[in-house]
Amino acid sequence: MTRRIAFINEKGGVGKTTLAVNVAAFLAGKKGRRVLLVDLDTQGHAGKALGLDVRTVSPNVFHLLTDEAVGVGEVVRPTAVQGLDVIPSWKEMADFPTEAAADPDRALRLRRALSALDGRYDVLVLDAPPSLGLTTTNVLLAAEEVVIPVATTYLALDGCAEMSDTVTRVAADYRHPALRVTQVVPTLYRKTQLADEVVATLERYFPRRVSEPMTLNVAIDEAQSHGKTIWEYAPWSRGATILQKVAEAIDRAGR
Ligand SMILES: Nc1ncnc2c1ncn2[C@@H]1O[C@H](COP(=O)(O)OP(=O)(O)O)[C@@H](O)[C@H]1O
Ligand SMILES: [Mg+2]
Repeated sequence: MTRRIAFINEKGGVGKTTLAVNVAAFLAGKKGRRVLLVDLDTQGHAGKALGLDVRTVSPNVFHLLTDEAVGVGEVVRPTAVQGLDVIPSWKEMADFPTEAAADPDRALRLRRALSALDGRYDVLVLDAPPSLGLTTTNVLLAAEEVVIPVATTYLALDGCAEMSDTVTRVAADYRHPALRVTQVVPTLYRKTQLADEVVATLERYFPRRVSEPMTLNVAIDEAQSHGKTIWEYAPWSRGATILQKVAEAIDRAGR
């Protein structure tokens, strides 16, 4: 069975893409799984972080979702990581909600497009945009396991509760009971009393589902600026050690 893991949070800059890319690369490169990473964000950062020139790669995920003539085989690209493929995204994705507006099944387009891959991958990793519109609903309906990265700031707690409610609501509204939050990842973590209080509160809301905090580490940011995963760029860094622990927690949580 193919695992389907989505990284969602309506806030931007909380670590969705960083986690999606590095967890996907960990499961492929270190665990020997066949992994497909699907970017759904207009910024195209997931493809970019894997070294693709996303501005020129076409067709991409937008064409897959809006043009029946484009098959999934045409949008899947190989990466430098053994076992990891990616479907890139770019600015056109901003037009997806309007393009799909008249279709009563518009929320199911991603799930249907990916179903044509059946059996080709062990894991699908979905990187959501920072909003709660049609694209994120498509992501949730194409996924079963949901990971919520949460910045370790006080106000981020509200957002996390909201994201969890959204998952519950989409699961009920669309009769998709397999959909569930499997892991919450505290991100952008620096050890302060407030950050530790935020982590403790998350542990009360989500018992046994909170991973180790993702500490701020410059190698994580640098790796992305070089179009590489942390495992290629700085495998011995503190960032790699932390990301490995988080990736293992996400992997265990969904089984
Ligand atoms: N643990 C970390 N240490 C250092 N930089 C990080 C860390 N996590 C994320 N970043 C940086 O923060 C920025 C936002 O992260 P990103 O994963 O793109 O967030 P999102 O996808 O939620 O918008 C990126 O530049 C990323 O490199
Ligand atoms: Mg992102």
